[in-house]
Amino acid sequence: MNATPDNSLQNSCNCDDAYTLGPLQVGPPCCDPQPVIQVENLSLQYGGKTALEKVTLDIYRGCITALIGPSGCGKTSFLSAINRLIDLIPTCQISGHIRVDGEDIYDPGTNVQALRRKIGMVFQKPTPFPLSIRRNITLPLREHGITQRHKVEAIIEQVLRDVGLWDEVCDRLDTAALSLSGGQQQRLCIARALALNPEILLMDEPCSALDPIASGVVEDLISRLSGRYTIVIVTHNLAQARRIANYAAFFWIKERAGQLVEFGHCRHIFESPTHELTAAYVNGSRG
Ligand SMILES: Nc1ncnc2c1ncn2[C@@H]1O[C@H](COP(=O)(O)OP(=O)(O)O)[C@@H](O)[C@H]1O
Ligand SMILES: [Mg+2]
Repeated sequence: MNATPDNSLQNSCNCDDAYTLGPLQVGPPCCDPQPVIQVENLSLQYGGKTALEKVTLDIYRGCITALIGPSGCGKTSFLSAINRLIDLIPTCQISGHIRVDGEDIYDPGTNVQALRRKIGMVFQKPTPFPLSIRRNITLPLREHGITQRHKVEAIIEQVLRDVGLWDEVCDRLDTAALSLSGGQQQRLCIARALALNPEILLMDEPCSALDPIASGVVEDLISRLSGRYTIVIVTHNLAQARRIANYAAFFWIKERAGQLVEFGHCRHIFESPTHELTAAYVNGSRG
């Protein structure tokens, strides 16, 4: 990647969490974390059945926050509430507040298209459009009114370099995205999300459909993207959460509803959790 990294987030502290791995990474602002997403008393129901109960949680700018917990505890619902994907589910109702950069995203005046541009999403199964590699990136750009040829070409190269795919595909941009391997497809989906220059990336188990080698490549990529982006990642792979996340939020199902049991610095959650349930889950004796 040729661009000079933005060092505005670089922190000068010497604590263990300040690191610089690759050219993209500028390190999370660990000593003075600033919330970018503020979730307050979020409850969510599907057809009257509660999936999430009163979740309050801050997500910090430039950091990776891992959401962990057993299946069905509401992790995907939580992500879907943050970029208003739940608007597409007629039976879904929410209460509480989610503020992104201080603005309540459920205010009637919210521009949902602008919100989704600010918040990119990557799913468990790679979901490239059944189009060429190039069109996977130009399509969302076009939807957001970015059509100038030289600008579009520059973005394509930049985001494919950002995800380490440029050298692998630069001579076949017009071939089908579905002809790529699973890991390449997932990196293309991340590139597609980056093309709109989001602030935040939501990732729902982005490595779980990949083989171990491809998973490692995507995991390294996610680490390198932190600092420049705020990342919220759902993962069932606790070792992965421990390796890449700065913060972890542990969800559990209590009285049939997903609840946040504990949130904190990753080291705290994995090494000295406050709650017995968290300890049992991260030690593998529950869940
Ligand atoms: N579209 C939906 N309609 C009805 N119930 C749903 C829907 N999506 C999720 N649920 C329910 O909400 C709960 C939380 O699901 P989910 O957010 O997918 O949890 P997780 O991602 O932690 O596995 C589960 O009981 C699930 O069955
Ligand atoms: Mg899920």
